[in-house]
Amino acid sequence: MGLTTPLMKRLARTIVAGMFVAAPGALFVGAAHAANYNPTETSRRNAGTPNSSIVVKNKSGTVIEYGNQYITYSAPSPKLDGLGEALFMENCASCHGTQADGVPANGTTGAYPDLVGLGPATIDFWVVSGRMPSANPRAIEASRRLPRLTPNQALAIAAWVNSLAPSIPLVPTPHLANANVSDGAALFALNCASCHTIEGDGDALASSTFSPSLRNIPAFQVVEAIRTGPANMPRFTGNLSDQQVLDVTKYVTTEIQHPNNPGGFGLGGLGPVAEGFVGLLLGVGVLVLVCYWIGERS
Ligand code: HEC
Ligand code: HEC
Repeated sequence: MGLTTPLMKRLARTIVAGMFVAAPGALFVGAAHAANYNPTETSRRNAGTPNSSIVVKNKSGTVIEYGNQYITYSAPSPKLDGLGEALFMENCASCHGTQADGVPANGTTGAYPDLVGLGPATIDFWVVSGRMPSANPRAIEASRRLPRLTPNQALAIAAWVNSLAPSIPLVPTPHLANANVSDGAALFALNCASCHTIEGDGDALASSTFSPSLRNIPAFQVVEAIRTGPANMPRFTGNLSDQQVLDVTKYVTTEIQHPNNPGGFGLGGLGPVAEGFVGLLLGVGVLVLVCYWIGERS
């Protein structure tokens, strides 16, 4: 005891002192990383992607492309900035403000989401999926509509917003030829089916929100949704590698969008209980009829 007590005291003092030294140090390290936009790192605002083997920077050191053989992510060309700014002022500034900071002309802060630093994939996704410009800003959940802007205009707006504060995730290009669809099916069942259902048809969630159907969504938008987590959907970053995201995307854009029903009838993919009930009704029903037919009548 006599020996351990002074030792413990010294240890405790070292730990306390260490905390004082380390805390500002950690803050400093965090800030330094945020400024570098390390694409292998994740944080709530700038969701990065793991396993980048390609990292391309421009002259001023901003990452403009990263990824690997499964998915490459690239920044929209800065040549689109001018067009993007004009389109933003026309279609978005009335709500999100001329600085894209969510403060409209009447100066109400916090009225609309601040778009600065969200990353080009987020801006692109909301515009290219027709969610924005918003048809009904009071809606609980903005849903997919026929896009009002073209894919190139969406990229231009993403380019301009990104020029205000360069950030990630960048716009993804999935290389579907390198995907494994059966791994994708397992990953989908684990990570997505709880909300979107195993058939990808979507379902109601809490508080009048819903998870949409995943049919007819282009592959790059599936990746954008997974990497950016629109609204109530969780953002999948470090927990799914690019290879896994590609596998899920392949599954969503093949099996879910073109289901193959080995039994012949899909029955709307209602699930085993409902489908079993149909089987029971048909099977037992036919048996009863047969019994009537061959049975004796008295
Ligand atoms: C009429 C008002 C209005 C207009 C115009 C509008 N937005 Fe929005 N925007 C909203 C509202 C409200 C939300 C929140 C919707 C939600 O969470 O479902 C939103 C959400 C977003 C988000 C998601 C933000 C986040 O944190 O996930 C993005 C990105 C976005 N808007 C971009 C745009 C762009 C780009 C334009 C122009 C093409 C635009 N918006 C036009 C009202 C508007
Ligand atoms: C906690 C529930 C939840 C989970 C888990 C979830 N999602 Fe979602 N997902 C949502 C909601 C809610 C939306 C709609 C967001 C909005 O538009 O406001 C959505 C939107 C999407 C969209 C865009 C659909 C469209 O109409 O534009 C895609 C694609 C998507 N999810 C794919 C996935 C995949 C793939 C996974 C698994 C890796 C997954 N989601 C996991 C709830 C979820």
